[in-house]
Amino acid sequence: MNILVTGGAGYIGSHTCVELLSESHGLSVDQLIIIDNFSNSKPDMLEKVRAIAGRDFIFIEGDIRDPGKMNALFDTYAIDAVIHFAGLKAVGESTQKPLAYYDNNLTGSLVLFETMQSHGVKRIVFSSSATVYGMSNPMPLREEYPVSATNPYGYTKLVIERMLMDLAQADPGWSISLLRYFNPIGAHPSGLIGEDPNGIPNNLLPYVAKVAAGKLPALPVYGDDYDTPDGTGVRDYIHVMDLAGGHIAALEYVMRNRGVEAVNLGTGHGTSVLSIIRAFEKACGHAIPYTVTGRRPGDIGTCYADTEKARRLYGFEARRTLEEMCADGWRFAKERY
Ligand code: NAD
Ligand code: WQD
Repeated sequence: MNILVTGGAGYIGSHTCVELLSESHGLSVDQLIIIDNFSNSKPDMLEKVRAIAGRDFIFIEGDIRDPGKMNALFDTYAIDAVIHFAGLKAVGESTQKPLAYYDNNLTGSLVLFETMQSHGVKRIVFSSSATVYGMSNPMPLREEYPVSATNPYGYTKLVIERMLMDLAQADPGWSISLLRYFNPIGAHPSGLIGEDPNGIPNNLLPYVAKVAAGKLPALPVYGDDYDTPDGTGVRDYIHVMDLAGGHIAALEYVMRNRGVEAVNLGTGHGTSVLSIIRAFEKACGHAIPYTVTGRRPGDIGTCYADTEKARRLYGFEARRTLEEMCADGWRFAKERY
């Protein structure tokens, strides 16, 4: 089987490619083809994927918005299924540069889906996000709850989900997984690949790791007056290697079934910001300075997944502990940051 991965040099893509190349699952991947334009990643991540997997893959440097490049790719390789990670993902930046987000995420997805359609490739696993649940649903979040968005990034995920649902409606030959990730953290246990954002991180874990590595002075804790056990925000953190395993399970599912399914990938458990700090302190062996500031606009107090559908459809369950997430994240960060 030949798999195309868009955005495979990125954080989640690189870990998923390691899993795809490993022999530890029921899929037989003959050729793995990765396309990435390195807009938010570096070429050395791909070298490390090669080193960890001990297997080669085909890499194409390019932009998925380029129809000529995408047509040539699908003409050259007999692709069976696509895992589509490529996109811009920073919520705050999307409010500053909305057109860049609409162009990259929507145009990129449209060109990809059109190229797939014209080449008769109808199996896809798409990186959606828990952000599509908006701010007013009860917890745990279930896939059938209403979706909404509060920022351009979230709208791009909603529209891409819609495009794929409409495609499945128009042509029952399509087989589509919309994976709604919760909060992926951690790194491959080798410490070779992980999350390496440019500049000051937006997300909690890379920020904590940069403080732990002495690159930033203190973590801002965005509010301690939420209705949560310690007042700080609660999220469903999932180890990126578990998330990678979720993609393998979703791919196995789309190879066997038709239609479209939205599926949460999380652990089903919430962890507070202060609990994350304590767990990371254990991993790195020293205190992590922090200052409680005001709430971050657009944040909710608590967010975690209902994981029943992933278990029922994919037989998928996240297994790695918070301790492993922090230990693996720190192993990568202390070398890289
Ligand atoms: P990432 O930025 O590390 O990876 C995305 C990759 O896509 C990068 O390597 C980037 O260079 C590439 N890319 C972007 N636009 C491209 C284009 N037009 N053509 C070719 N390559 C392009 O992000 P990630 O954390 O690995 O996230 C992967 C996907 O999962 C994204 O779609 C993101 O929106 C989604 N997601 C991420 C999270 C998270 O917290 N990390 C949560 C939910 C959903
Ligand atoms: C986690 C918790 C913050 C930074 C975002 C996107 C979502 C998805 C995952 C893509 C919250 C608190 C954070 C800091 C803090 N991405 N925090 N200090 O907001 O749950 O989700 O990433 O699809 O769409 O919105 O993740 O890591 O930013 O925040 O106290 O410096 O940590 O308030 O409670 P979030 P996060």
